[in-house]
Amino acid sequence: RMYKRQMIRRRDIDNLNVPFLAIYESLIPPEEEKVKQRQLLALLEKLVNKEWPKAQLFIYGSCANSFGVSKSDIDICLAIEEANMEKSDILMKLADILQSDNLQNVQALTRARVPIVKLMDPATGISCDICINNLLAVVNTKLLRDYAQIDARLRQLAFIIKHWAKSRGVNETYHGTLSSYAYVLMCIHFLQQRRPAILPCLQEMESTYSVNVDNVNCAYFDKVGRLADFGRPNKETIAQLVWGFFYYWAYCHDYANSVISVRTGSIISKREKDWTRRVGNDRHLICIEDPFEISHDLGRVVDKRSIKVLREEFERAADIMQYDPNPCVKLFEPY
Ligand code: GTP
Ligand code: MG
Repeated sequence: RMYKRQMIRRRDIDNLNVPFLAIYESLIPPEEEKVKQRQLLALLEKLVNKEWPKAQLFIYGSCANSFGVSKSDIDICLAIEEANMEKSDILMKLADILQSDNLQNVQALTRARVPIVKLMDPATGISCDICINNLLAVVNTKLLRDYAQIDARLRQLAFIIKHWAKSRGVNETYHGTLSSYAYVLMCIHFLQQRRPAILPCLQEMESTYSVNVDNVNCAYFDKVGRLADFGRPNKETIAQLVWGFFYYWAYCHDYANSVISVRTGSIISKREKDWTRRVGNDRHLICIEDPFEISHDLGRVVDKRSIKVLREEFERAADIMQYDPNPCVKLFEPY
């Protein structure tokens, strides 16, 4: 299936920049949403610290990584050292503490893959999930946020790709398609491999930030203010990049042998990672290496059925970008 179709440059492609940027702008959360999120965080901190004075709360995921669209739920991580308490007991206790205040729908989901407490704040209308000691997620959130500051095209591209994925029903891990986190990594990888590159590989540069979390050393260059000109030599526009992204995943990626790796800024082989066969439920049909938990394939949720759905969606999108007179409508049509 690779290289099935030649990418013929569409002469009117840059007419699509204005509508794509309008979609991007319409998805940016307004400032008052950020204010409400901070309010809710402050309330939760107050409640948690009454019980556990040394515990800390961190926002992670889309509300903190700069890839959050308007009306996202907040993901919060409770960092707590309670050596002689089981995680599930901490969650039950936490649910108790929050229940007593006027928060709604407080539920402890202790058996989930990532155990959490869910709740809704009636004052702000915001829902949130609180997990325990998931500090790697806090660190990868910072990595994504730092990448977003290097070149504005990353955030624009990722918003459009996330919007497309949600519209087309391919952003549902419990149905075997990819998480938002996976899509953002795919966008970063894509911009790292453009020539000239639009993004550098921060983990291959001299590290200015380094923390050890769960026995993983997370180190990279985080002085991204110094990289403001990095992507300048590449003049590709957002419309060209959206097209290029879909074309890449439809016709250029070698699904049988390749792993995309933001950590190395390149492609590595499945063989090298020993991701060539199915182990347990991990099938490795599309391989996206987590930048810090490098044994973790974010494509592991994808199965035989959903890989077909995904690849057909990439092809559909690439073909719309190539031929459709009005791609901005067709691309996001509900499935
Ligand atoms: P939306 O909520 O869809 O806007 O995006 P999000 O950026 O919050 O992404 P998502 O809900 O998929 O994931 C939340 C965070 O969990 C990510 O930003 C990562 O920091 C972290 N994370 C770490 N490992 C995984 C993983 O295997 N799957 C997912 N989904 N998230 C992970
Ligand atoms: Mg989220």
